[in-house]
Amino acid sequence: MEKTKVAIIGLGTVGSGVARLLLDHGDRTARHAGRVLWLEKGVVRDLKKGRDCDLPAGVLTDNVDDVINDPTIKVVAHLVGGLEPARTIMLKLLESGKDVVTANKALLAEHGPELFDRARELGRSIAFEASVAGGIPIIANISTCLSANQIVSLHGILNGTSNFILSKMSDEGAPYATVLAEAQRLGYAEADPTMDVDGSDAAQKLAILAQLAFGARVDWKDIPRVGIDKLDVADVRYAKQLGYQIKLLATADLVDDYLELDVSPALVRSGSPLAEVSGPFNAIRLKGDAVGPLFYFGQGAGQMPTASAVVADMIDTAVGRTAITFNTLELWSNRQARVTTAPN
Ligand code: NDP
Ligand code: HSE
Repeated sequence: MEKTKVAIIGLGTVGSGVARLLLDHGDRTARHAGRVLWLEKGVVRDLKKGRDCDLPAGVLTDNVDDVINDPTIKVVAHLVGGLEPARTIMLKLLESGKDVVTANKALLAEHGPELFDRARELGRSIAFEASVAGGIPIIANISTCLSANQIVSLHGILNGTSNFILSKMSDEGAPYATVLAEAQRLGYAEADPTMDVDGSDAAQKLAILAQLAFGARVDWKDIPRVGIDKLDVADVRYAKQLGYQIKLLATADLVDDYLELDVSPALVRSGSPLAEVSGPFNAIRLKGDAVGPLFYFGQGAGQMPTASAVVADMIDTAVGRTAITFNTLELWSNRQARVTTAPN
């Protein structure tokens, strides 16, 4: 069977899960891609660290040039967080002729235009399903399955760490700091969890979805955002007594051809679908003018759900069916985004 050589940059929570899927379930990739995705290299910073996957000899390296300078590697999963050196690595990968798959929403929200422009110039692709809502295939759904629609509203729980913390505070009365530490230990939180809990991570994901769903170029920093970092168990308990759950909601509503965007904790009536989303799960409730309301639910943070999205993108990339084409990106209109602090 034909073989496509691939590499992973970053073998932390997500990268190790990707390696496990490629190594343990090559039959699945072969079935869907009609070829083997062969893991040629896995790049890390610290070769001495324990890994959550068993790699064949010769795969692990701490030198990204082992990937960049190997013309036989065609597809690279870029699973390093933050902005730098993540941006530089992404540019070098594209410039060396690789197609890239990433889960790094911070990088795309901050440097997306530059990276996509460069990829287009070079005739390369960047796939990013895992960058929003982990295992939920929301990027592919919005950009392909719903392309006959004008999306008119999109409300979501887009940060798994915040939702995990709020759920534990509500269900067990656990203190904020204790649950945040647990979210870090379980690999849901970013290396620096500040942006998880202050609403920035949800705003970055909302900016990516706003671009896809509404054709609006949004600077995520313009989205008003309030996180969960100022809440304590008493707030969550009082809300519950009144018949509500507190959820960190990211909202985008089309109003008179303007887009209203907001990220903030909201009171959601207990028993409603969004209130029932618990733990590291995410959900997205959206409305298209033709399809009507839709509800997506699944694990938004965590190793294997995120790896599921990354490997699907690697398969699509290897066979040349990356969901987002650059033409689609080019055709995005520049709808004005009105940011608002209106209560949800
Ligand atoms: P981790 O911190 O667990 O892993 C990051 C990996 O990158 C580590 O293996 C680290 O190496 C490696 N690394 C860092 N800098 C370099 C470098 N300069 N060269 C080579 N390797 C480097 O992060 P996650 O796996 O949790 O997240 C990865 C990306 O996926 C992030 O962008 C995150 O936002 C995104 N994401 C994460 C999800 C999750 O649930 N964790 C869900 C969805 C998206 P070493 O191990 O040696 O330190
Ligand atoms: N830290 C992120 C979250 C990972 O908790 O949602 C998924 O993007």
